[in-house]
Amino acid sequence: MDLSLLRRRFLSCSPVGEIWTKDIIKESTQQDILLSTVLCECLKGRPLSQSYTNNFMKTFMHKIEEFGGEIYDCTYEAYGDILSLSAPTVEHRHYDLSDTTICLQESGSLVAEGTTGLKTWQASQYLAEYLLANKSLVEGKKVLELGCGLGFLGLAICAACRCGSYILSDHHSSVLQKLHANIAINEEKLLCIPNVEEIDWNIASAAASSPSQLHGLDIILAADVVFDKELIPSLVKCIEKLVSSNSQCQVLIASTIRNPDTYASFSQAVGDTGFQRKQVVSNATKLFVYDESSEIVIDRVSKASFS
Ligand SMILES: C[S@@+](CC[C@H](N)C(=O)[O-])C[C@H]1O[C@@H](n2cnc3c(N)ncnc32)[C@H](O)[C@@H]1O
Repeated sequence: MDLSLLRRRFLSCSPVGEIWTKDIIKESTQQDILLSTVLCECLKGRPLSQSYTNNFMKTFMHKIEEFGGEIYDCTYEAYGDILSLSAPTVEHRHYDLSDTTICLQESGSLVAEGTTGLKTWQASQYLAEYLLANKSLVEGKKVLELGCGLGFLGLAICAACRCGSYILSDHHSSVLQKLHANIAINEEKLLCIPNVEEIDWNIASAAASSPSQLHGLDIILAADVVFDKELIPSLVKCIEKLVSSNSQCQVLIASTIRNPDTYASFSQAVGDTGFQRKQVVSNATKLFVYDESSEIVIDRVSKASFS
């Protein structure tokens, strides 16, 4: 049984999939599985969704029976304890990096409180994998993230890389509120503490100039921000304004191509603005568990030509 993969999938509330092997019928393996999942230290005070945990335990016990094994007391007891708990008021997900684990207050809903920002999307996990494999792109750099949502990408980077500074930004009040909570939860693990700015692309794109704290950026990051054709002109204009104080500023935008038409509008808008655009080929090792049913791409965008 691959306990590390099981833990990774469980803690991030991802589908566990066909991971089960016959050794789960052994009492010692059942104990190890419980310690890697429902009894994991990091869940103390930071629980996952109750329904996810319940379903996981049901699947685990069902698999033991399918393999013709006995469900040992340790497993029954853990299940009983879980059933006796009331549903948590705040749900979390935990993401294992190579050396640490980051935790986010996060529900699984695709849209909640009128925003898509209260969930971690796959493009941010894909971009995090790329940047963790290419740390020099952010280490020592002044980094701004647009449309950061709950902060997964920024927190993963700040936990693993010594950025010069990192600004997380979004426009939605509930998103910003949860973002502050997520920074606080992870603060002790971070090598660089991010700042938070409220940036609305519609407002920033129309402003005469960017505020001084956003001048001199080395790199701008954004993940899963290309999803609504109507937002693309202001997003691209906002980026154009932000890079104007440093023509060498690089921009990395990770997009899940759910609708090729929307992505084509983005490519067109970037080209019309006179930016260079090049797709990055990611060399990264997979660290996170996310939906890969739609293609995910990283575009490198710059005013300067690529070397
Ligand atoms: C699909 S979510 C992606 C969140 C995060 N980057 C991720 O990948 O998990 C899109 C994000 O863009 C933000 N957003 C949407 N419209 C925006 C605008 N006009 N200005 C700034 N952020 C915006 C939303 O609040 C949300 O956090």
